[in-house]
Amino acid sequence: MEATPRIELGMEVLQTSALPLGYVALESEVDSKIPSMQSQEFRDAMAKLAAGVVVVSARTPEGYRGLTASTLVSVSVDPPLVLVGLEHGSMTRLAVIETGQFNVSVLTRDQEFVAERFAGRAPAVDSRWREIPHRIGSNGIPLIEGCAAWLECEVLQVHAAGDHDVCIGTVRLAQPGAGNPLVLWDRTFWTLQ
Ligand SMILES: Cc1cc2nc3c(=O)[nH]c(=O)nc-3n(C[C@H](O)[C@H](O)[C@H](O)COP(=O)(O)O)c2cc1C
Repeated sequence: MEATPRIELGMEVLQTSALPLGYVALESEVDSKIPSMQSQEFRDAMAKLAAGVVVVSARTPEGYRGLTASTLVSVSVDPPLVLVGLEHGSMTRLAVIETGQFNVSVLTRDQEFVAERFAGRAPAVDSRWREIPHRIGSNGIPLIEGCAAWLECEVLQVHAAGDHDVCIGTVRLAQPGAGNPLVLWDRTFWTLQ
């Protein structure tokens, strides 16, 4: 993409990040209505969908878990529901399903490194989140400080969907924060200007 359209979009690329693969929920077992569709085409197409970046957190007897996610969607206002896609191999998915609770921290442009850490691409986050500025929510699950918004959720439904589970949560607490959001688009982190 050229520089001018970026300005017209009111978006600014964050220089420190380049996502070589992007994040796309890829599933070979899911029936496709387009048999000839190749997984790379699917990945390339979905990379063009701009998404907010969040950290989904959970608690286990051994400590806290968290992952970077770009699949958070607001589903319903009354009752307040969100969904997030959690991949099968994820430790956080296990913790969410076992405890029936999770929190969401909506990341800002200043928190790109936080996104990298919870995606397993930077030094691993220890189970007590000692290096991550956070507070403990009313449900005992951590929330990251300095975010654009925070949610505390109870799992309502879990739907198997290919290599992910679609986890629908009832929002028990929601709080707006401040700051420009971190945006994933075209395998790169961006922010609004
Ligand atoms: C930008 C970005 C978005 C991601 N979105 C998701 C997502 O929506 N769901 C998911 O399960 N994993 C997602 N991932 C991958 C997880 O963050 C990654 O696999 C993480 O290391 C899982 O950690 P865990 O096993 O400790 O739970 C994403 C990664 C990146 C970089």
